[in-house]
Amino acid sequence: MKRPVNVASEIVFRTLGRNDLRAVATLRDEILSHLPHPADYIAHVDEDGFLESHVGAAGLCIGIEAHGRLGGFSLLTLDVRNAHLDPELVAAIARHNGGNQSFDRTCVLAATMLHPDFRGKGLHREAIGLRLKIALERGRSKGFAMSSPWNTASLCNLLRMGARIRDLLSFADGRLRYLAIVTMRQQQAPTSGQPPVLVRIPDCAAQRVLFEAGYVGERIVAKGEELFLELHPRATQARA
Ligand SMILES: CC(C)(COP(=O)(O)OP(=O)(O)OC[C@H]1O[C@@H](n2cnc3c(N)ncnc32)[C@H](O)[C@@H]1OP(=O)(O)O)[C@@H](O)C(=O)NCCC(=O)NCCS
Repeated sequence: MKRPVNVASEIVFRTLGRNDLRAVATLRDEILSHLPHPADYIAHVDEDGFLESHVGAAGLCIGIEAHGRLGGFSLLTLDVRNAHLDPELVAAIARHNGGNQSFDRTCVLAATMLHPDFRGKGLHREAIGLRLKIALERGRSKGFAMSSPWNTASLCNLLRMGARIRDLLSFADGRLRYLAIVTMRQQQAPTSGQPPVLVRIPDCAAQRVLFEAGYVGERIVAKGEELFLELHPRATQARA
């Protein structure tokens, strides 16, 4: 998986194992202590268990390195039930998967974190593409991801890589998370031909009404200091 990218340093994506856990946890804690917006990420109840499960049977932890230095990591959950995911996310996946509880064909693009030195080089989008490719090879057809409404970089990257925002989840502790879904190997569902709607982020009530009516978030639009989600109505028969 080693290839040069169009930056000064050479970047390597490598599947990490148990021996790398300490380095990953240290990097995670450093990044979490310097988030641009405090709501960008809120730690899981069992943050270390979550990480550990991804160097074990529940998924993969992909390291992003340059010259032997770990500058980021990206998690792919392949076993939705046993990966220490938030129960609200697991319930939402079942809901958006036609009520199917087996999760055999689903995966989660879980946390990606980059040290500031590694940002602004398109590495998050590369990590999304790489994880989708691995998931597809392992028989997954639907990818789920969560993003804070205030994490514009994360949202823009998910949307640019083909994800569509389909829901706004509320957690017991007050967190809000957009739920983005990528349907692999499928053309994007056709829209109904009606004009899109712009809703200020995070006007939760208005967005929830639109999600329930089958609208899909496709783009982030900036107007001055304000950010809006552009929602498109989907054709009724295309909803799934
Ligand atoms: C989120 C994160 C992984 C993104 O990494 P990255 O690869 O450096 O992402 P970039 O900054 O290169 O890409 C962000 C994109 O959003 C766009 N964007 C950001 N803010 C924007 C705004 N207000 N309006 C329009 N576009 C915007 C950028 O222009 C960029 O697109 P471009 O490459 O076409 O210019 C990184 O910032 C990070 O590690 N953050 C801390 C941890 C975190 O929040 N992780 C995600 C949740 S788990």
